Amino acid sequence: KLPRPYTLPFKVPPVIKPVRSDATTDYYHIAQRTGVAEILPGVKTPVFGYEGISPGPTIRATRGREVVLRMTNELPARHPRWGYEAWTSCHLHGSASLPQYDGYASDITRPGQVKTYRYPNTQDARTLWYHDHGVHHTAENAYMGLAAQYHLVDPLEQSLPIPKGDYEAPLILTDKIFNSNGEFIYDDNGHSGLYGDVILVNGVPWPLMKVEQRKYRFRVLNASLARGFRLQLSTRDPMTVIGTDGGLMVRPQTTAQLRLGMAERYEIVIDFAKYKPGQRVELRNLGVKNSVDYDNTGKIMAFEVTGPAKSLADNAVSDPDGLLNPQAPAMDLAPAMAVQKRKLEVERKNGQWVISGTTWADVVKSDYRKVVAKPKLDTVEQWEIVNKSGGWFHPVHIHLVDFKIIERNGKAPFNYELGPKDVVYVGENETVKVLARFGPHKGRYMIHCHNLPHEDHDMMTQFEVVGDSE
Ligand code: C2O
Ligand code: CU
Repeated sequence: KLPRPYTLPFKVPPVIKPVRSDATTDYYHIAQRTGVAEILPGVKTPVFGYEGISPGPTIRATRGREVVLRMTNELPARHPRWGYEAWTSCHLHGSASLPQYDGYASDITRPGQVKTYRYPNTQDARTLWYHDHGVHHTAENAYMGLAAQYHLVDPLEQSLPIPKGDYEAPLILTDKIFNSNGEFIYDDNGHSGLYGDVILVNGVPWPLMKVEQRKYRFRVLNASLARGFRLQLSTRDPMTVIGTDGGLMVRPQTTAQLRLGMAERYEIVIDFAKYKPGQRVELRNLGVKNSVDYDNTGKIMAFEVTGPAKSLADNAVSDPDGLLNPQAPAMDLAPAMAVQKRKLEVERKNGQWVISGTTWADVVKSDYRKVVAKPKLDTVEQWEIVNKSGGWFHPVHIHLVDFKIIERNGKAPFNYELGPKDVVYVGENETVKVLARFGPHKGRYMIHCHNLPHEDHDMMTQFEVVGDSE
């Protein structure tokens, strides 16, 4: 009784309004609670959602205005079927938040408790997402639905002639497994990964979106637990990548295929101008190595062209110079600026996922003092991340910073990953090198694999940004 692909209408999550605003700040209240979603037609699925919906409401923030978010955990004390205590921690992924507001995994909010987060919004315009990070249950909580987008906009980005408004949409990709009652099944194959047979876009299985003959901008987010995607249009026409995790690229890049690991965001522009009214263009998933595929996991969604565009405003992919974001701070980094080089090894050891030999349990045991690196505030470092785990890929996320990928297996990175990043796809036996400037805050921040069953068991550690004398 799964729906046929491309029969359900595309939809986007609602944008949440602040409860109040003052001269500097927008205040939001969000409750984490259970909800009922109709994901499969006529079937009720229990979810955990921000405001009870999944994906949660989009927060639209403006650069220079702080967001204060009061997050209430109204979840049941224990997950009704899986039994764990439904504690949470909210992480705004892509934000340089202070440590106490970063959704530190062990800084949990138990059912019935409240925590207020502050987000500075001083970075460049970008697509962020907020999702659960509660220690050992991040995967179940996110899978149950605690994930949503957060758009940071700024005047530079708003002034560019790139598609906006009706011509811009999130594409939040997840995969699920349902039981015959319509409930989610959680099976992470011994903590190696969960691979659903149903692909959702913004919570809808394989939706169909009506589009006009013009360009559209999509904020693509892979919010799956373990599924990597390789996107391709059925026409094999190129897509234009205009943004990466940390915001707009300096120069847009075209590609016919886009590999997207968990937590990566790519802003892509697809031009539907040359397709005929009535024509369908599919967005397909060619799959990645060591994933588990089912009949329809090669399909994501389809676009159906309605006719001529009602408006051709902002129908471009860059400004007239061909540059989008010449000032992207993370791009202003060169290997010669690095004052320190480090190596992180991700692997499977003694039945555990580890980063440079350590796990989150080691961090906990040290009373949260153990760190794998102590970069000095405002200095640049070069980190080499080596995947020694054989048949697994690991999207490695470094909190706090935007980084620049400078090398993938001794060669140039893919053209679409040349923008500012905070997650890097470290494929099977791959080695990548990244450069980052460590700041703007001191403190301890997590580094982990964004395969969430890996993260929970226990592929997560931390670094500490320290002052000069420390
Ligand atoms: Cu998107 Cu530490 O997470
Ligand atoms: Cu991993």
